[in-house]
Amino acid sequence: MSDAPTYFRQNHLLGIEPLHPLEITEILDLADSYVELNRQTQKHADALAGLTQINMFFENSTRTQASFELAGKRLGADVMNMAMQASSIKKGETLIDTAMTLNAMHPDLLVVRHPHSGAVDLLSQKVNCAVLNAGDGKHEHPTQALLDALTIRRAKGRLHRLNIAICGDIAHSRVARSNLILLGKMENRIRLIGPPTLVPGHFAEFGAEIYDDMHEGLKDVDVVMMLRLQKERMDGGFIPSEREYYHRFGLDADKLAQAKPDAIVMHPGPMNRGVEIDGTIADDINRSVIQEQVEMGVAVRMAAMDLLARNLRSRRQGEAA
Ligand code: NCD
Repeated sequence: MSDAPTYFRQNHLLGIEPLHPLEITEILDLADSYVELNRQTQKHADALAGLTQINMFFENSTRTQASFELAGKRLGADVMNMAMQASSIKKGETLIDTAMTLNAMHPDLLVVRHPHSGAVDLLSQKVNCAVLNAGDGKHEHPTQALLDALTIRRAKGRLHRLNIAICGDIAHSRVARSNLILLGKMENRIRLIGPPTLVPGHFAEFGAEIYDDMHEGLKDVDVVMMLRLQKERMDGGFIPSEREYYHRFGLDADKLAQAKPDAIVMHPGPMNRGVEIDGTIADDINRSVIQEQVEMGVAVRMAAMDLLARNLRSRRQGEAA
């Protein structure tokens, strides 16, 4: 149970960027075993028994927070959710002061979502527990990319040499960034599809091909990953109208017909039905793996926290010796 990880060397999970492909594979392999556990009626393990997990969400979240909470509880941690909207931050306390206060309560795992890119990284330097990034601004959302990778690997039987289209609001999406990095490290061919306002040219640096036409971009892909229009991160003028956007970039049966016949459709949620995706496709159990993504989310977070906790224990043992 608490053997040292074979490859996973991280003290925190702040992004996909620092991970070696073998570390990614180790998380996914362990997550596969947690998928099995989660399908049992009796779903308790004790990898985090005795540890305290604090979830600090400075941005609204439904599925990610619930997923982290369930993951911690299934592994036996004491889990606390901080209602950050109502916290001292509102009274003017800085992020670091809040972090130091929590740190004094001796948490072992801190799960943090924050609207500013880099905030979670900064926080990790001030505390002495393992920090997991649950989404920081437009920067990274590592557990989302890992759960997407696990979903793809289980549906396609592999996680390399696939043609993968990431569509829509790339510019504002930490999900897209983390996925680009992960899928690139695993040697897939990635296409980014969207209007130039939402797919800035510099994204080509990630080794992706850029398209502004869905019919062209979706041709023969194995995976179609749709993204939510991040209206809360836009300051106007990015799309002409939602109707026009749906017409050109919304995933409907006609556009999906360009992809391989067995292509899967993904979406991280929450979805805007009729804006970026047709509701019928989202619900089509033969094409859509959106529910599987949610299931994989819990398993991947269990695996990530398990591996981080093992490293935390050995680090602390080393310090005590
Ligand atoms: C994503 C996020 O918060 O970045 N949601 C999620 O974690 N399931 C995607 C989004 O908000 O569109």
